[in-house]
Amino acid sequence: MTDDHPLACSALDKTYRLGKSTLPILRGIDIAFPARGLNTIQGASGSGKSTLLQILGGLEAPDRGEVRWQGESIYGFSRARLAAWRNLTVGFVFQAYHLFPELTAVENVDFPARLARRGDTEMSKALLDQVGLGSRLHHLPAELSGGEQQRIAIARALRNNPALLLADEPTGNLDQATGHGIVDLLLRLQGERQNCLIIVTHDNAIAALGQQRYHLTDGRLDPRSD
Ligand SMILES: Nc1ncnc2c1ncn2[C@@H]1O[C@H](COP(=O)(O)OP(=O)(O)O)[C@@H](O)[C@H]1O
Ligand SMILES: [Mg+2]
Repeated sequence: MTDDHPLACSALDKTYRLGKSTLPILRGIDIAFPARGLNTIQGASGSGKSTLLQILGGLEAPDRGEVRWQGESIYGFSRARLAAWRNLTVGFVFQAYHLFPELTAVENVDFPARLARRGDTEMSKALLDQVGLGSRLHHLPAELSGGEQQRIAIARALRNNPALLLADEPTGNLDQATGHGIVDLLLRLQGERQNCLIIVTHDNAIAALGQQRYHLTDGRLDPRSD
């Protein structure tokens, strides 16, 4: 059902090769994500969570298997179409924020819209207001706290109103209270936009919030119900 589950993958394999040694990371992952709601993924450090998110988000091709968006295999897209799909359909939030250090808050947020030739700083200002940073529009990332930088990263990730928001340990660099504030923000925005949010986290309390909860172990994604 591609309407209900626009993002799906089947038989995903990924192995890293370092010299003569091979490191199988993902082994035959089959999963479909609902169009709306929170999915959480846990797993030991090095289990392949970031690799999986990058494959799902069109940043890294698997060795085998497919990632489909609305029934189409994204790694079959041309490079240009894949880049445009990523920019318009996927928002990424990373543990280390990954803002452009030389751009102000509002310039960071407007960047994905400019890439799509839809730049509009008024809309980016409104989005910064929504994440509580309306008074920090012209600050550079280095002039802001970690929690503030992550709020900017979230605003940037949502700038093109993506159907899919992928957050890779978004609270990993933050103290617990700030981190939970970030998750509250992600959930509020998910509720307003009704998109698909996938959060990778080590925090059991955050993982427990997922309507779908998964654990990545030995290259497989297992549903969790505890
Ligand atoms: N580009 C790469 N080349 C080789 N090995 C990699 C590469 N990226 C990740 N790895 C290895 O693959 C494993 C999974 O990495 P990652 O997906 O980052 O795990 P996680 O996010 O769960 O901590 C780790 O052992 C890591 O060292
Ligand atoms: Mg990781």
